[in-house]
Amino acid sequence: MTARILITGATGNVGSEVVRGLQALSIPFRIGLVNPSSTCLEANDHMEVVPFDFLNPETYSAAFAGIQHLFLMRPPALSNVWRDIAPAVRAAVECGVEHIVFLSLQGVEQNRITPHYKIEKLIEQLGVRYTFLRAGFFMQNLSTTQAAEIRDAGEIALPVGKAKTSFVDVRDIAAVAVYALTADQHESQKYTLTGPEALDYTQVALKLSHVLERSIRYTNPSVFRFIWRQLRAGRGLGYTLVVAGLYTITRLGNAKTVTDDVQRILGRPAIPFDQFAHDYRASWQ
Ligand SMILES: NC(=O)c1ccc[n+]([C@@H]2O[C@H](COP(=O)([O-])OP(=O)(O)OC[C@H]3O[C@@H](n4cnc5c(N)ncnc54)[C@H](OP(=O)(O)O)[C@@H]3O)[C@@H](O)[C@H]2O)c1
Repeated sequence: MTARILITGATGNVGSEVVRGLQALSIPFRIGLVNPSSTCLEANDHMEVVPFDFLNPETYSAAFAGIQHLFLMRPPALSNVWRDIAPAVRAAVECGVEHIVFLSLQGVEQNRITPHYKIEKLIEQLGVRYTFLRAGFFMQNLSTTQAAEIRDAGEIALPVGKAKTSFVDVRDIAAVAVYALTADQHESQKYTLTGPEALDYTQVALKLSHVLERSIRYTNPSVFRFIWRQLRAGRGLGYTLVVAGLYTITRLGNAKTVTDDVQRILGRPAIPFDQFAHDYRASWQ
């Protein structure tokens, strides 16, 4: 087997679904893990496992050797692009990577302070082929970050008012990533990946109430109360401020645009919220 595809963040929300998608197609690929022995992902006939740490340049050359297509994601904890991410991206191109599929952010082109904006610019400057997956808010935020609050308190406490969000299912993002990593496309592309509808959190709470057959409330705290609750729950200040900033962008109405990129690329409709809620109901039970 000769792997030409490297997946970063293979244990994450999107990366794990990319792994699943490539495995289903029996396409050989490699995953780069910070600590390969600590996860349940084991090498098999189609999957190589190598050490890869954005923060450790010694892991770069073996991880990138022979790779043409790189699935690149920025771990949320790494926010200093020039110190934490750029060295690996430059090394990838120096090692011969020809195409980078980057997990970016919806609206990034108007949001220059985000790490994703800087990473997109870096990739463009390096002159390598790219596919930017500018993803909307993940539906799976509700089944991961928000899960305990929904399960234990029956509430969604986010400071977004009545604003709508065009939530996307990470399974759709991963399906587009698999397409980009394996299709023989030669032009660089920028896709904005959203779900099929924009919902406010009162609608989200109603949909979850329906699936779970119990009442889930949307409480709409102020930004200051949200920050205070995050800090009290043990989340770091830097992380909390970034998340509060993203929800403020949503509150201002900037996360509601729906696109048909998923449908155009995959030839099937994007996964609707109702389907997500049904498939992930165990997360809140
Ligand atoms: N959440 C949203 O709504 C949303 C929307 C649009 C874009 N995004 C972007 O999507 C990205 C997050 O994707 P995700 O949710 O799939 O990730 P995730 O679930 O948060 O997982 C993070 C991944 O990064 C890996 N990792 C951590 N530190 C690393 C290091 N030093 N070197 C190499 N790998 C490292 C982790 O590996 P271990 O398991 O070994 O720790 C894990 O696989 C972020 O850039 C975020 O801004 C998120």
